[in-house]
Amino acid sequence: MSKLKAAIIGTGGISNSHMDGYKQLSDRLDVVAVCDIDGDKAKRYAEKYDVPRVYTDYNEMMAKEELDCVSVTTWNSAHKGAAIAALRGGANVLCEKPMAMNAQEAEEMRAAAKEAGKLLQIGFVRRFGADAARMCQLRDEGLLGDIYYSKVSYLRKDGCPGGWFGDKAYSGGGPLIDLGVHVIDMARYIAGCPKPVSAYGVTFNNLGCKRASGGQVAWAGPDKKTGYQYTVEDFASALVRFDNGFTISVETSFNLNIAGDCGNIELFGTKAGVNVNSGEMYTTMAGKYVKVGTYGYKGFGFESEFQREVAEFVDASQGLCPCRATAEDGVWLMKILDAIYESARTGKSVDITPIAE
Ligand SMILES: NC(=O)c1ccc[n+]([C@@H]2O[C@H](COP(=O)([O-])OP(=O)(O)OC[C@H]3O[C@@H](n4cnc5c(N)ncnc54)[C@H](O)[C@@H]3O)[C@@H](O)[C@H]2O)c1
Repeated sequence: MSKLKAAIIGTGGISNSHMDGYKQLSDRLDVVAVCDIDGDKAKRYAEKYDVPRVYTDYNEMMAKEELDCVSVTTWNSAHKGAAIAALRGGANVLCEKPMAMNAQEAEEMRAAAKEAGKLLQIGFVRRFGADAARMCQLRDEGLLGDIYYSKVSYLRKDGCPGGWFGDKAYSGGGPLIDLGVHVIDMARYIAGCPKPVSAYGVTFNNLGCKRASGGQVAWAGPDKKTGYQYTVEDFASALVRFDNGFTISVETSFNLNIAGDCGNIELFGTKAGVNVNSGEMYTTMAGKYVKVGTYGYKGFGFESEFQREVAEFVDASQGLCPCRATAEDGVWLMKILDAIYESARTGKSVDITPIAE
């Protein structure tokens, strides 16, 4: 059987993790092309990973190559164009999170996948963790009862990554769309993927860019080197309600006056609560309220989880397993984020409309 052919669009930081995932599958797949608008960067990347062909235009790449799998690892504003071009060009797509700039774009991407009859998987990498698997196991065995509330946070004291991450025109938003998306999705996933119905949120930009990138990048207006402008929120907090009553409370920041970076995902059910960081479960046993730990519990592991994500993507693209992070999940998350931003703007709770069939 001939080997599968893969390509990567966007040869920046996270693309290395996708490449690593593909390299693990070298007995059945070759990465035959990479594409980046920065041609020199793409060339260096191709040399490093021994990839034969380099492009600066994904439309040209899709016209010239016959690809089975494409990773979209560009900045957020290019996700839609790159993913749709790859899907229409006959490839299955693994698109990084957040799926797009907003729900409208995400819906267009989902429609394009349907029309092309191709898989569009979203890079909710936390779903591939051993911690996620353990939590879902506790849920499936009924140990948590009905899960009705979740508290999630992803807080950095001075952690805007800088560059395009701080410019809404490229990122679509700040910590909410960049970091919050991971923990909101993880809580929703463990809770069994209920449908969101409304959100109430606040965002602040009080600390601005002064501490971006740990104080290394002092934007005073446009970043002199790149032209990026710091235009995103530096803190967001929200309550998201789901159709079964389940509710998520989220807090996320690039910059916040706290002691240090921290974050966690907790879920609370009628029988037990769980702490995803520690793996502990809080419940009643033999008439006592107890804390139960798991020997050998593993939290999120960056390298192994990306490898698992890419491997499952390739398997799912071949129909060997169901997709763990669907385009529909991506659209729901974008709808949640849109609603939070809209609520922060208007000061009112915002209803979330169903996904169009
Ligand atoms: N899952 C995770 O944990 C995780 C971690 C980091 C980043 N990400 C996501 O991955 C994506 C990329 O982030 P990054 O940190 O690698 O950014 P990066 O800036 O390092 O890389 C982005 C690359 O995309 C290229 N690019 C932009 N538009 C393009 C286009 N039209 N065609 C081809 N190339 C284009 C840029 O030139 C750049 O090289 C973002 O969506 C980000 O949210 C996910």
